[in-house]
Amino acid sequence: MAWLTTHRAAGNFSFARSLVDHHLAGQGGSLVATSYDDAAVARSKYENEVDANMEAIEAASGTVLFGVDGTDLARCKALRHRKFTRIVFNFPHAGAGIKDQDRNIRVNQELLLAFFASAKQFLADTDGSEVHVSLKSGEPYNSWQVRKLARAHGLACVRSMAFRPECYPGYAHRRTLGFKEGVSASGNEEIMDKNPRMLIFARKEDSDHTNIKKSATKGAKTRRSEAQHPNHSDDDDDEE
Ligand SMILES: C[S@@+](CC[C@H](N)C(=O)[O-])C[C@H]1O[C@@H](n2cnc3c(N)ncnc32)[C@H](O)[C@@H]1O
Repeated sequence: MAWLTTHRAAGNFSFARSLVDHHLAGQGGSLVATSYDDAAVARSKYENEVDANMEAIEAASGTVLFGVDGTDLARCKALRHRKFTRIVFNFPHAGAGIKDQDRNIRVNQELLLAFFASAKQFLADTDGSEVHVSLKSGEPYNSWQVRKLARAHGLACVRSMAFRPECYPGYAHRRTLGFKEGVSASGNEEIMDKNPRMLIFARKEDSDHTNIKKSATKGAKTRRSEAQHPNHSDDDDDEE
């Protein structure tokens, strides 16, 4: 399994580091963590966190790349000819500081549309390859209509669930603008009161295939005993 965690996977690479430390069990070499900012800008925004996390990722044989535009991954030479089974963009935000809400929504929709188009080219052809996008809930995020944007590029939302930072020890969410000790919200306060969700997308053709399998299995399960096996799944494939 190969992972591409796009832009700073937590601004400070802490999400990518958590993946190599806690989820990839000796497979750190399959992970590429990318930052939109160049190294100097990233260091000025997130100080020591950048180098500490980068060293840990590289020590686990992972790769860290700076100056990678998630909307044009193909421009990054180091990514050319590579394919990934997981491509992750946590809490995407253009960070343009636009006050006008409609424009703000549009700019973030454009960011995501271009990201989905680009990510799809880097998604491995194997069944089960996924693009993960984490997002706060409520407005203006609901108005981004992320599922629709993904569908425009042939990606369907196959699952969604609460984004639980505790599943990624060491992950510390960061804003686009950076982090100032004693000034910025620390830890994950920034996201936790916004009911954060993780949306999982797969190629539409793969998801159609999975849905056929799912409904066949569900039908069989239902016939066996629906009452004895209530469905506690957190899936919510509702429309936005
Ligand atoms: C709210 S911050 C989230 C940071 C981090 N992913 C996290 O979970 O803490 C939004 C991030 O989107 C990134 N971003 C904005 N435009 C981008 C682009 N075109 N390509 C890649 N990343 C971008 C910003 O650099 C920033 O790191």
